[in-house]
Amino acid sequence: MQIGDKIIVVTGGGSGIGKALIERFQREGASVVVAVDVNADAASATAAQLGCPAMVADVSNEADVVRIIDEIENTIGPIDLFCSNAGVIAGASEQSANEEWELSWGVNVMAHVYAARHMIPRMISRGGGHLLNTASAAGLLNQIGGAAYGVSKHAAVGFAEWIAMTYAHRGIGVSVLCPQAVRTAMTADAEQAGTMAATGDGMMEPEQLADIVVEHLQRDAFLILTHEEVHTYMQRKASDYDRWIGGMNRLHQRLTGES
Ligand SMILES: NC(=O)c1ccc[n+]([C@@H]2O[C@H](COP(=O)([O-])OP(=O)(O)OC[C@H]3O[C@@H](n4cnc5c(N)ncnc54)[C@H](O)[C@@H]3O)[C@@H](O)[C@H]2O)c1
Repeated sequence: MQIGDKIIVVTGGGSGIGKALIERFQREGASVVVAVDVNADAASATAAQLGCPAMVADVSNEADVVRIIDEIENTIGPIDLFCSNAGVIAGASEQSANEEWELSWGVNVMAHVYAARHMIPRMISRGGGHLLNTASAAGLLNQIGGAAYGVSKHAAVGFAEWIAMTYAHRGIGVSVLCPQAVRTAMTADAEQAGTMAATGDGMMEPEQLADIVVEHLQRDAFLILTHEEVHTYMQRKASDYDRWIGGMNRLHQRLTGES
């Protein structure tokens, strides 16, 4: 898909990766890029800095997702590219509260379902459209110390695969973004604590990631990896699952100091 002249929505647009995507899409010649965020101050700050429309919505709430889609399509025009990018880290282990698991599920998975549920019929009726769903390398390789994050991001990858399998022949494109560590508010703590396994392969700047995303969207790639190492880790996982689990357990012990 080409970005030029497109109407684009980016959730989680108040910060980090979402904000960098908006800026990059604008430079690529998008017609309008709408920043959506649950944090009203963050959404307004993006709007003021980048000169884009901003809307406040909790994407884990289906009524909010319907409201913003209706409002954008009625006042701006048909959405060509919907980026479900908002995400949260919560629920470190099976001992974490149900509320943390439900938050992860709601934002990291159901938000993608709601966007698809309400965008796909519209997109099909007008000949096509594209969904960009931000998952994570944790959706392919899991997350040390982040059970609900790893599990929900696996579900996000699975859902994106399912959309591609089901709708590719009907004009619906889908890309799933699976970064390792990117320097944003989300990684600030992990970076300081040195506990995020992904930081071992380096911390990418959000602007660099946005360039990679545009290049992949232009050739309609399904999987968007930002760190080449992830491809190698996926191959190792597929070629010897037991060995990969053993390696991840050793990494867990090393990072947590457990033995
Ligand atoms: N930073 C990384 O290293 C990294 C790596 C892999 C994947 N990701 C994913 O990238 C995406 C963006 O993360 P980021 O690093 O830019 O983090 P971030 O914390 O800087 O930005 C996330 C934004 O999402 C918003 N948000 C949270 N819950 C929301 C909700 N219910 N409704 C609407 N907006 C909501 C937040 O207010 C925030 O502005 C997330 O899905 C994250 O899981 C990040």
